[in-house]
Amino acid sequence: MPSADELYVRAVRYGYHGVIRPVLFRMHGGDPEKIHGQLVSTMGHLPESLLGVVERLIGQDRDPVDIAGIHFPGRVGVAAGLDKDAVAACVWASLGFGFAELGTVTRHAQPGNPRPRLFRLVKSEAIINRMGFNNNGAEAMAVKLDDAGVRRGNNRLGAPVGVSVGKTKKTPLGEAVPDYLFSLETLAPYADYIAINVSSPNTPGLRSLQSQRGIEELTGALVSRARELDPGDPVPIFVKMAPDLSAGQVDDMLMACESTGISGIIATNTTVERGGIAPADRHLASQAGGLSGRPLTRTALERVRWITRHTGLPVVGVGGIMTPADAQAMFDAGARLVQLYTGFVFEGPALVMGINKLCRPGSGGR
Ligand code: FNR
Repeated sequence: MPSADELYVRAVRYGYHGVIRPVLFRMHGGDPEKIHGQLVSTMGHLPESLLGVVERLIGQDRDPVDIAGIHFPGRVGVAAGLDKDAVAACVWASLGFGFAELGTVTRHAQPGNPRPRLFRLVKSEAIINRMGFNNNGAEAMAVKLDDAGVRRGNNRLGAPVGVSVGKTKKTPLGEAVPDYLFSLETLAPYADYIAINVSSPNTPGLRSLQSQRGIEELTGALVSRARELDPGDPVPIFVKMAPDLSAGQVDDMLMACESTGISGIIATNTTVERGGIAPADRHLASQAGGLSGRPLTRTALERVRWITRHTGLPVVGVGGIMTPADAQAMFDAGARLVQLYTGFVFEGPALVMGINKLCRPGSGGR
């Protein structure tokens, strides 16, 4: 017999699948990027009174946890890329999210790759994207957060704010460190944590920063600058990994992260592999970019399990979480927090609600 919580989650899910999603997926001639842009912008303009109602209806039962000195009111967060320019930053907590990772932003504003660059693979419950860090830049993000009254640690948005920072495309790889440092310095007063994105497949050469030497140099510089900026309480820095690294590369990266004072690992970003795509979506498989959603579930889980066994650093599990059971598997593999992107697109707020109501922290995490 399903519990009252399970029945409630199912009802919200049916509402999303039966009514909201069919309408959403058909807007703008089915152009996923336009739909996403409009949805996020509309959400960002919702009145506070309505957000209060939404929160009471679906945003309850978050399960708090303290990690890296940050108080998270819930364990499920918004993954980077969903709200690149903090357009809907005020909404995420009302939907039941316990944190939001905004960005990825870069030192310089940039347009990203030419469109089309976002493809929905409906039968596979997946997305391929090659957005290429389209964003308004680190300074615009700082202004946006400042205008919203956000300061590091003040919980202005009802949930911690992480900001993901990446390398500007036109910045040569050899000058990556100052490029990242600029974003760190600009955003440290606002972000509860900074996530270093070295794992997007859509910026040429970026993932080579995941080599042991590359990551040591980058994280060493960022952690010491964070300490200079606030010696008593430096902003925690997390590193986000690709799922396509070998076990040896992961271990090298973990060693470098531990030795330089990184506070947490986010695993994983999108994959360049193309397994798990349904026959009906095969015509999209050759699109360049990163694949996310259901085809990534197993690999991301395996990576998280490996990482939690090989480091004491807290791990944020992300990749292919499409059901509360997928999130539970991440917790059981040792993830302390989880994040959603593709699952949120396909399952809507019922997934956040389901994780909040039905998942329990795993026993494997540290
Ligand atoms: C992403 N992702 C991403 N990650 C990141 O660190 N910075 C970014 O800017 C983006 N941008 C982005 C755009 C789009 C359209 C997608 C689908 C994904 C990756 C994302 O945060 C996440 O790591 C992966 O998508 C895997 O999780 P899901 O989508 O399977 O839940």
